This record gives sequence, C-alpha cells and structure tokens, in this order.
Amino acid sequence: MRTISMFALLSLALSGGCAQSAPAPDEWQKPESLFAPVRPAALDPHSHARPELARVRHLSWDARVDFSRRRIEAVADLTIAQSPGATELHLDARDLDIRNVYDQAGIALSYHLGPDHPMMGRDLVVRLRSDTDHVIVRYRTTEGAQALQWLTPAQTVGKKLPYLFTQGQAILTRTYIPLQDSPGVRITYDATVRVPKTLAAVMSAEHKGDRVDGDERVFTFAMPEAIPPYLIALAVGDIAFQELGPRTGVYAEPGVLPAAAAEFADVENMMTAVEELYGPYRWGRYDILVLPPSFPFGGMENPRLTFLSPTTIAGDKSLTSVVAHELAHSWSGNLVTNAAWADFWLNEGFTTYIENRILEKIYGKRRAKLVESIGRRDLLEELDDLGRDNPATALCRPIDDENPDDSINSIPYDKGSAFLRMLEVNLGREKFDAFLRTYFDDNAFSSMTTKKFSARLEKSFGADKLDALQVNSWLYRPGLPDNVPAVESDTLTQIKTAAGAFAKGQPLAQLSTQDFSSLEWVLFMRALPRSLDTQKLAALDQKLQLSTTKNSELRFEFLKLAVANHYDPAVPSLEQFVTSQGRRRLVRPMYDGLMKSDWGRDKAQRIYRTARASYHPLTQETLDGIVGEP
Ligand code: BES
Ligand code: ZN
Repeated sequence: MRTISMFALLSLALSGGCAQSAPAPDEWQKPESLFAPVRPAALDPHSHARPELARVRHLSWDARVDFSRRRIEAVADLTIAQSPGATELHLDARDLDIRNVYDQAGIALSYHLGPDHPMMGRDLVVRLRSDTDHVIVRYRTTEGAQALQWLTPAQTVGKKLPYLFTQGQAILTRTYIPLQDSPGVRITYDATVRVPKTLAAVMSAEHKGDRVDGDERVFTFAMPEAIPPYLIALAVGDIAFQELGPRTGVYAEPGVLPAAAAEFADVENMMTAVEELYGPYRWGRYDILVLPPSFPFGGMENPRLTFLSPTTIAGDKSLTSVVAHELAHSWSGNLVTNAAWADFWLNEGFTTYIENRILEKIYGKRRAKLVESIGRRDLLEELDDLGRDNPATALCRPIDDENPDDSINSIPYDKGSAFLRMLEVNLGREKFDAFLRTYFDDNAFSSMTTKKFSARLEKSFGADKLDALQVNSWLYRPGLPDNVPAVESDTLTQIKTAAGAFAKGQPLAQLSTQDFSSLEWVLFMRALPRSLDTQKLAALDQKLQLSTTKNSELRFEFLKLAVANHYDPAVPSLEQFVTSQGRRRLVRPMYDGLMKSDWGRDKAQRIYRTARASYHPLTQETLDGIVGEP
C-alpha cells in the first residue's frame, strides 16, 4: 500500500494557495450590494473586481492625450460577460474622474463609487440590466494617476517635445483605465489614441495604422491575445523606429536610436535561443522601446513592446541581460501569468531562471554562472536583512494588506530562480526543460497559481520525489532549504581573491584582472569590504574611469562605496548620476546611503529638493519615504 506522502498532506493543508488564512474584512471591503453580499476569499485581494458576477472580456479604448492639461480624456468601452442572475459589474478605479456610464445603446447605467482605499482605489459598481453586454465609461485621468509620467521637453533627450509613458504593474492600470485590474482577469484590447500631430504613440499591441486629423495624429492598435491588464501600456513622444531583424526593432527618441539599435542587436538571437528551449514566440513582433531616463525600472515586459531604461545602454552590450529578462517574460509572465500578486515569484523567478538560460546560450556558461552568482549574493544579503525565519522570505505567502509593489526584492527573483535551478539539477536538465516546455504550451494565455504549478510538478515527477527535494519548504516556508545548489564559478573565486588582495593593500596593477569585463569589475567592487580608504577609492576611480563611465552598473557600485566612505571627490559624479536618470534601483541606495550620515544628509536633501520633480511618481513615493517630502 502506498502511504500518503508529506508532500500530499502539506498540499492539502495549504489548499488556499498562498493564502493560509482568510483576510479580515476591512471597511472598504464591505459590500454595497444586497445581491452579492459575500466576497469569496479566493478573489484577488488587490482588486475590487468580482469576475464571478460579471467579467470584462475586451477593452475598446478611445483616448485623447492632452499634454497641456496633463490628462487623458477617454472612453473605455468594456465588453462584458454576465453570470446568470448578475446585477452588477465591479471595476477598479483610482484617481479617475468618471463623467458618465452607459450601455451599448447609449442608455445611462446607474453606478456608484465605493470609498477610496489608499492602495486599491475605488470600487466602481455599475448596475447591469440583463441584456447589458457593453459597459461604456467616459472619464478623465487626474493629477494623482500613478501609472502616468508626464515629462516636460527638458526631461527628454531631444529637449523639444513632451513625453508621456504608462507603467501598469502591479496595480496601477486602474489609475488611467477603469477595468478589472487583476492579473487573473485577462482581456483583449484595441485602442484609438489621439496625440498632438508632432508626436507618435506606441502601445503593447499591434500598430494598425495612423492618420493626421487636424492638429492631431490618430493611432490605432489591437492586442488580439488575452492579457492581464497590468500589461496594457502606452508611450507618446518624439519616437522613431529602427529595424533590428525580421520581427524585431527598437523605438527611441531620435537622438538615442543609433546607440540603442547597436546595443540591442542580439535580440533576434535571444529570441531564437528561448524558442529552442520553450517553444514558439507567440506575440508576433518583439520590439524594444527605450524610454527617457526617468523610467523607474530597468525594464518592463509589456507584450510586443518591452519598455527599457536607457541606463541599460552601456555601449558594449554588457547590460543586455535586462533584454534577455524582459524577453523571457514573453513566456513566463505574459503567456503564463501569476494569478494574483502572492504568486509573483511565478513571474519573476521563472523569468530570472530563463534569463540565465538565454545568457548561457548566447554568451556561454562562464558569463551565465557569473550572473547567477550575483543573484545568489543578492539573495543571501536579502535573507540576512529580512531574517531567515521572516515569513516575508517565503516564495508564496499571503500579501493581502501589502502593496504588491513593496514585495519587489530578491526573494521572488533569486530564491524563485534558485528553486527552479534546484529542480533542474536534481530532475535532469533534459527532463526539466521538457516539463517547462509543456507547462508553457498547456497553460498559454492563462493564469497560474503556486498550487497549480506544484500539482503539475507532482503529476510529472511524483510526490515522493518532491518530498525528497523539499518542494513544499521551498514554496511555502521562509529561509533557504539546504539543498540549494552551489553556484560554482571559477571566475567568481578569482574575483574574490583579487578583491581580497586589493583590500589588503596590493595595487590594482599587480592583480590579475586583465580579462575582467565590466561584469567582473561590478563583482570585484561588491566583494570589497564596505570600508575603504581614500587612496583605494581614487585608484579604482582612476583605473575604471568610474566617475564618468557610461556603464550605469559600474558607476552604481563605485558610488555606493563612495557614499559609504564619505568620499568627497565623487560627490559631483554622484549628483550627476541621481539627477540624470531615475531608475529606482539605481537611485534609491544612493539616497539611502547619504541619509545615513551627517556627511550625506544635507547633500541628499539638497539634491532631492530640485531632482524630485523629474522622478517618476513611483520613484518619488519611494524617495519621499527615505529623504522626506520637501
Ligand atoms: N516586471 C518587472 C518590473 C516590475 C515588477 C514592475 C513589479 C512593477 C512591479 C521587470 O520584468 C523586472 O523585473 N525588471 C527588473 C530588471 C531585471 C533584469 C531584474 C528591473 O527593472 O530592475
Ligand atoms: Zn521581471
């Protein structure tokens, strides 16, 4: 007789997915309806949507981008599917100015807006008639819209024309479009976007055409595949295009376009590399949009059109792993999507793992191992910071009361990818690759939970095997299981030896650093003790031209050391670094470091006072918490 394995038992006990206990109902959750008084616990806690009552299927968006008023005036025509007996549609709306709501015949529908929850915004409840199949909302965005950054001409590279871009992930699409803003509610969309005639619009969709109409240019787009709402994206500005390959190209401001095209020339190879592993690219084209420097992330995987920070352009393709990462999301994240934000590791852990497999194929094992070792180091540091028994270090955990944007740390990315690497090493690469390939095929264009994923693993490899590999520990427990595979990298050992010798006083010229690329130097600096004397900092700066290098990661590592050691000569470079770009991962540690000492505090406050206006709302929010609101 077969005994029930620990794996099966634990899976039963954890049947609520990541939600191990039901959330306490808050004020804002109190239902307004007599007809649907109970909010099922299985719903996405970060959305007001009640898709089990009525569900949005398609968005037809007609939008005018008004730069003079800094707002979007739009009509969102939502095609909906009602469940039998449904009487209302629940939409997410945050900081939206709702003008009116009507049905397919133009007849007004009654609606009301629930209380404004600080994280989720309002529940826009629309009363349905039994024949309502379109709910059409006319609205305007407001100044508070966190998904939007409006840039003045001065904040662009060209300096002549304004720019607008959106950032929907995780729960911000609702600040510019009223819809069911949950990653479990996939929709198709089409859009008509009117912009000033001198500008161009691009979206995470197929460009169907554009024409001039008076002072405006009208662009039309269509996304025929069902996507989660956080992947709807728009950018408007002086945007030019250059082809890279038959199905790839790059969009950027004209002044950035040549450098961008050269930097990302390998993208077609990267696509082929992933396709060999996990099956066809299913989105038609893959283009890259290089945004103005205030873009708050390194990259954002908007389907068909990855958004990328210009800080990834180093001039020597050394930072293109961000492209590998965003491209990998075309499978993990965009094709198979975390069902709720508690499953975020399914997006980012898979993607970090696949990113590494791409790097291995394109640049070889040595570089891939090095990159993996950076991730491991980040993970160990994160675990030390948070504490290994901190529930926040579990891959899958309830985050009902937290803003999902606050859980962007090394856990979902690097613990997630270490878990998948552990499976690969123990199950065999060939078998695991085959498993992933069918995982993407079978679940294409649908949502995934941690529980569904582990059930699939169990079906393929057996519960006993998963017990032996501590799979439930990996998924649901804090810390790091002891079967985490070591990341062996000779290069890393060599780097650490060199860093140790330098820290002890050996001159840089005497170290064997001849074949160091920028990646090795990043690791070298990270391997140094935090406390360094002025002479060593000056030697490093001189050798690598760190105060002026175009390589943002090199400069970032050096400036962290400079701040930690109150190194005055680097202050102008530091100031230039945090005012010339607004990528949150690159600016936050600078302000953090400065605020820690008397030496840095007034520098941080002085710089932030003038720089704040140029940062994205998300970066502002983060930095307000560090430097204080001016
Ligand atoms: N999807 C993420 C960015 C994101 C996550 C935005 C959560 C908002 C909420 C993107 O794919 C990402 O991970 N970007 C990284 C780069 C990557 C190479 C690790 C970034 O921007 O740092
Ligand atoms: Zn990612």
